[in-house]
Amino acid sequence: MHWFEKSVFYEVYMKSFCDGNQDGVGDFIGLKERLPYLRKLGVDGLWLTPFYPSMQVDNGYDVSDYKAIDPLYGTIDDFRDFMKEAKQNEMKIIIDIVFNHTAINHKWFKEHPEYYVWKTKPNNWESFFGGSAFTFHAKQNAYYYHSFAKEQVDLNWGNPDVMAEAKQILRFWLEEGVDGFRFDVINNLTVDKAFPDNPFDQKGEMIHQYDRNQRGVKAIIAELSGFCRANKEDVFLVGEISSDNLDEIASYSENHLLDVTFNFNLGSIENLHVKEIFDELVRMEEALSDRMPTLFFGSHDMGRLMSRLALQNRMVAKLLAFLMLTARGIPFIYNGEEVGMRNQIFQSIDEFRDVQGIQAYELARAQGLSEKEALKIGTEKTRDVGRGPLVFADRKPFSKGKPWILGRVETATDATDMFQFYSRLLKFRKDADFQTRPYEKLVLEGETIQFIRGRYLFVANFGETDFLVKEAGVVVFGEAKQNGNDCTIGPLCGVVIDLEA
Ligand code: GLC
Repeated sequence: MHWFEKSVFYEVYMKSFCDGNQDGVGDFIGLKERLPYLRKLGVDGLWLTPFYPSMQVDNGYDVSDYKAIDPLYGTIDDFRDFMKEAKQNEMKIIIDIVFNHTAINHKWFKEHPEYYVWKTKPNNWESFFGGSAFTFHAKQNAYYYHSFAKEQVDLNWGNPDVMAEAKQILRFWLEEGVDGFRFDVINNLTVDKAFPDNPFDQKGEMIHQYDRNQRGVKAIIAELSGFCRANKEDVFLVGEISSDNLDEIASYSENHLLDVTFNFNLGSIENLHVKEIFDELVRMEEALSDRMPTLFFGSHDMGRLMSRLALQNRMVAKLLAFLMLTARGIPFIYNGEEVGMRNQIFQSIDEFRDVQGIQAYELARAQGLSEKEALKIGTEKTRDVGRGPLVFADRKPFSKGKPWILGRVETATDATDMFQFYSRLLKFRKDADFQTRPYEKLVLEGETIQFIRGRYLFVANFGETDFLVKEAGVVVFGEAKQNGNDCTIGPLCGVVIDLEA
């Protein structure tokens, strides 16, 4: 058994988590100050979004130097102080590694153009942020490939020197004491070298057939993973597979590849349908029967769980948290969920920070849409909605400075109550010790998802009415009315029954 199979992770969106030097941007000093808070919450590990020097076109996912700290977040000494304190708090740390692309101002782009992908003529490939994936570069008299923004230049993984550089970077951070990596869009590393045009679906959206999951990518991931494992025993390797297709996602979770991959098939659903959630849980069991799935309903790339799925209903938000923290898998809480944060609200384009939202807005304007209409489109696309500064339950502000991201932070009402719910549930989870147990039963009855793991029956009632469970046992988490063997579970409630008590 690996340590991480029992763990609960927490994604720290660096810019918005906690600002120690009061300049409006989260940093390592702030993060270190908040370690007791995270301990109190009861999470075991943190995933830190990129903190390297960056052009900040894509908020750090455009890395200019992989072996340094952006002054926005502090110095390498601040990082080391934080790591020391994290170790003392028994908090595991995994960091984001962006190997698909570098920022265009990375020194490699000038010194080693052969590290990148060039083409004399663009094909029809679109970047994931919209627009062509090729940009002309006068000096090279050729087009460079960028699957995201034009400042994020895709690396050529066909060049073995790129692998050699990558290993040095991984070694550097392993020596700094990190416990694992979250590999960004790792299935995008290779493309079809013949560059055939991509097809479109019926809605006119590009199907990314030839620019991800291409030949050679698994061998590269195997080599990176093997290198990490050879250099650190029990390192935790998480893959972001750019896809919501479960089979595709699951195919990267293998002993010689990644430990886990993000299950967007469940995590990025847009609407709450209990049947859909249940079906995804079942499919995850089929596709990942001997592997750990991941469980999450939020990240820095999507609207917040409270707004997107729970539609501001705190009971629903708690129920989703209940499911995420009790179903089989490794949970990733997104920062702010533990206090019930909602989506950030924007009044004007000047408040946007996300390249994806800004590009969508600009495209709409260029197509002649009004300011208001363009803002609406931009708001639908911008990932800024989930990136607002943290609102802490103890009322201490994220920063006294002007925050890096504007817009209105919806104050989480009753943040303390939500925090207590999370910490009670996390404590129960730790004490009850069911995390690695398989499902002995996984069923949908009416609008209730039920599963047995170890000695516990978990019941998540997504219905609007009471649900009656006839089971001999004792309620050990959640509120329910028990009368002999009858247990009435209220609407939108999650309950755990100990069947052996
Ligand atoms: C991943 C990140 C996202 C970023 C993209 C490009 O999907 O989560 O924030 O924009 O990769 O690096």
